[in-house]
Amino acid sequence: MPGDFDLVKERVDIVQLILERVPLKKAGRVYKGLCPFHPEKTPSFQVDPDRRRYHCFGCGRDGDVFTWLEEQDGLEPAEALRVLADRAGVELTTRRGPEEHEREKRLIAANDTAHFYFRQALRGTARGKEVAAYIASRGIQPETVERFGLGYAPDSFDGLLSYLRKKGYADEEAVSAGLVSSTERGLFDRFRDRLIVPIKDGRGRIVAFGGRAMRPDQPGKYLNSPQTALFNKSGTLYALDAARAAIRKERAAVIVEGYFDTIAMHQAGFINVVASMGTALTEDQYHLLDTMRIERAIVAFDGDAAGQRSAEQRGSDLARQVQRAVQRAGRGSVTARTGLAVYVTVLPNDTDPDDLARRDPERLRSLIAAAKPVLEFVIDRIASRSDLARTDGRRRFLAEAVPLVADEPDPLTRELYLGTLSKLTGVEQESLRREASAAPREPSGRGTELPTRAETTTKQTGSPARYLMALLTRFPEEAARADLDPSDLNDPDLRALYEQLQAGKHPTSDLPAHLAAVVAALGASAPEFGDEVEPGQAIEIAALSLREWNLRRRLEDAGAKLRRGEGGDGSVLDGEIAHLADQLTELMRRRERHTVLHTADVDERDE
Ligand code: UTP
Ligand code: MN
Repeated sequence: MPGDFDLVKERVDIVQLILERVPLKKAGRVYKGLCPFHPEKTPSFQVDPDRRRYHCFGCGRDGDVFTWLEEQDGLEPAEALRVLADRAGVELTTRRGPEEHEREKRLIAANDTAHFYFRQALRGTARGKEVAAYIASRGIQPETVERFGLGYAPDSFDGLLSYLRKKGYADEEAVSAGLVSSTERGLFDRFRDRLIVPIKDGRGRIVAFGGRAMRPDQPGKYLNSPQTALFNKSGTLYALDAARAAIRKERAAVIVEGYFDTIAMHQAGFINVVASMGTALTEDQYHLLDTMRIERAIVAFDGDAAGQRSAEQRGSDLARQVQRAVQRAGRGSVTARTGLAVYVTVLPNDTDPDDLARRDPERLRSLIAAAKPVLEFVIDRIASRSDLARTDGRRRFLAEAVPLVADEPDPLTRELYLGTLSKLTGVEQESLRREASAAPREPSGRGTELPTRAETTTKQTGSPARYLMALLTRFPEEAARADLDPSDLNDPDLRALYEQLQAGKHPTSDLPAHLAAVVAALGASAPEFGDEVEPGQAIEIAALSLREWNLRRRLEDAGAKLRRGEGGDGSVLDGEIAHLADQLTELMRRRERHTVLHTADVDERDE
């Protein structure tokens, strides 16, 4: 595997790859362009064809062909490897066995063949035309039918089976693809007299079908492909391929329940919409979106209707689900800084997104814009049915709300919500905090053993401390801008170096030998800035980032101890966490001010 990465990296032309998305100009040995990761007017993004890396001197993003695809297309490292290996014509040693790969290709091809059959039947059979008329009566235009590949499965026991045989597929393949069912009475088409919705994976390959009943006597409104080698329903988001680009661009995805909700919304211009296919959002679907590094997943609930569980219940299930997903991902803390936040919006009674997209798209747009973070949503609901004017009403409210907040894995978020509860009830935040740490927690799974995101990031890109010190040795005259406490630097060499530089020593002439060696090593990772970057400001930002990083580590440690039940009755730790969280909030505010200053005049280029 490591060999594969190296080989592919060497074969893929990184300049060519990045040029497909970002205009670049040759500037000496490297190529320069406007950074795709942050807004700017003057190019500080560079691609180095020899080192096969890109780096932005403005925002510090840095990487190679793999991270490029991970960032741009939300691919997992293994997927990025596969895509780039294909591109470079490299045969991967660790590709899942070649037979398995062949097998997958066959099953996809069988699905493609079936899709062709279904589409033909929609146009070319009498019953198919009735179904097409039904589709049109739902306000779906012909282009949309094409774009989503809708079709029709004729009312036949073996129409598709014979067609697949004719096209050279073995019966066993038809069964494994989930197109044909095998019973003791023999083989027969799975989908009969149903409107067909092809389900594609994120790469646009058809992995399954959904079939909508066309008669009242048919069992089940929807029949979907079974679980197959290609399809796992709870890990799939319908229409992700169509929505992917918009989701990345807007850094937000809207999740609805149904196929037709999705289709109608896309047609109405909401193109970052996917369907969870029945449930609110499964854990796997959450992770799928999280790997796209977006900020928000907005779950749209259909309006409450008779027989439907209340929006509050659905919201609190969703909140639990998200808390579990975050904990299990081993980011049970503030390190989930780019982690995905889940929002909720509720449609008016007895409507669904399909309906509203057709009747009142503006209303739908404002409902989506007004979505609330799921925890806030649930707390609001509980509050609105509690009598907060009375003591026992407040007590009951807290009995329901505190455990929800107690399970919030991110200490900072937890503090913020405790603040809300305190405001709503007039109970001291301190007492609520004690209450919360005494409240029974959901088991946190294997979360705490996994490396946190902060740790993984550093291993990949070099620590924020090294980045800062590289800056300082390059621009020693700006050292005063760093304003750190030496204890912010854990590494004794870096700390000593920092103290020397603060004392006005010059990194190339005045240092003891062992520190000169440290400087030389840092030199390799020292960034080069163009004229447009002000080194002093870069140093201030890097210093703030380092302090923030340290704080997050300490918060995370305190949170882990608390979860393990260390540190006595917990209240000392809770106090410490609250204190750290305050500092962190303040620091983030300062850093934000910097970044705003930094980019204040560059907005006209963007969007
Ligand atoms: P809905 O019943 O809301 O489906 O179920 P819909 O897409 O709005 O259907 P129309 O508008 O009546 O045609 C939401 C989703 O739940 C899954 C499907 O993915 C469906 O789109 N579902 C529902 C099933 O898988 N099986 C079922 O029997 C019902
Ligand atoms: Mn519907």
